[in-house]
Amino acid sequence: MQAFLHLLPLLASFAFSSVTPSRPLEPRQDSECGQFTTISSGSFTVGADEWGASSGTGSQCAEINGVNDGSLAWDTTWTWSDGPSNVKSFTNVVSSSTYCEALSSIGSIPTSWSWSYSGSAIRANVVYDTFLGSSCSGAQDYEVMVWLGTFGGVDPLSNNGYPPTPTASPTIGDYTFNLVIGTEGSSTVYSFVGVSNITGFSGNLIDFYDYLETNQGLPSDYYVQSIAAGTEVFTGSDAELSTSSYTISMS
Ligand SMILES: *[C@@H]1O[C@H](CO)[C@@H](O)[C@H](O)[C@H]1NC(C)=O
Repeated sequence: MQAFLHLLPLLASFAFSSVTPSRPLEPRQDSECGQFTTISSGSFTVGADEWGASSGTGSQCAEINGVNDGSLAWDTTWTWSDGPSNVKSFTNVVSSSTYCEALSSIGSIPTSWSWSYSGSAIRANVVYDTFLGSSCSGAQDYEVMVWLGTFGGVDPLSNNGYPPTPTASPTIGDYTFNLVIGTEGSSTVYSFVGVSNITGFSGNLIDFYDYLETNQGLPSDYYVQSIAAGTEVFTGSDAELSTSSYTISMS
């Protein structure tokens, strides 16, 4: 409700600026701090999603720096302490250019992400987080994550202990990943963890689903319900994940 109310002044100011054609529109510079706030520009929405804030102490902000030719620049700054094994937040971006669709009818999900992380004693990842179900509104039976960055030795959910023993180490596109499998309630979590930090990623998310269909029995009639890209934060201080360019589409 709070997030919805917040949109109203944004929409109002956008509509107002569109009736002043004599002045060129400046790139949007929106920032927001708060547990479940969102900011939007173009097809992109950046959400704070501090779902685990009560397991620690800290604060976080997010900022959209601009959208250029379908590419988003954004950042998030944060400091969190306590609960070193608990995720405090997943500040992330979603795009309306991806939508719920059956795996069998998706041809391609090209995406690129250029990012950097700075800060002290950072325990966090940089990750695509996607959910799949038997229909668009069905239960999230599968979660597929692609970790581009791993800081401070944080691990994905694992069914075989910590540190996890990877089930496989596939090369997908231009990069090698460790595949770790975990179970959370009735859903299976597949985490592809980059063996090194991939700060200039360019790839196709359909390749990860294809791999799971071939090697792990992911049902091809399942639907990709959502795709988010952001950072799961455990602890650290004066941290900043800066994204200079993020693109994604689905066809
Ligand atoms: C990512 O970079 C950090 C900082 O240099 C480093 O500590 C960490 O081990 C790297 N992660 C991987 C997976 O190489």
